[in-house]
Amino acid sequence: MLSKNVDLNNTVILVTGAAGFVGANLVMSLLSEAEGTQIIGIDSVNDYYDVALKDYRLQQIDEMCKDSKNTWIFKKGN
Ligand SMILES: NC(=O)c1ccc[n+]([C@@H]2O[C@H](COP(=O)([O-])OP(=O)(O)OC[C@H]3O[C@@H](n4cnc5c(N)ncnc54)[C@H](O)[C@@H]3O)[C@@H](O)[C@H]2O)c1
Repeated sequence: MLSKNVDLNNTVILVTGAAGFVGANLVMSLLSEAEGTQIIGIDSVNDYYDVALKDYRLQQIDEMCKDSKNTWIFKKGN
């Protein structure tokens, strides 16, 4: 999907709102489709809706990293 528009392999990618719906799905797409990327996720994990859903997404991402050719770093912001 992503590689058809732009080659993101071997790049550093910053994803804001990475625990949210759009951000987490973007991170998971990158983890499964890109190679050699360093993905940096930032999210304040606010409580606009249930935080448990965001924690679940971040757990899913951590799980995907075990089989990925990319690296993932998450920083919780304020
Ligand atoms: N979901 C959709 O279908 C859709 C469609 C079109 C546009 N958008 C837009 O895309 C963006 C993301 O949508 P979403 O559905 O993923 O929302 P979301 O609420 O699920 O995710 C947003 C994330 O950003 C984080 N966040 C908010 N303020 C922050 C800050 N100051 N610093 C760090 N993290 C912060 C929140 O904790 C949250 O996890 C929004 O601007 C939304 O309007 C969403």
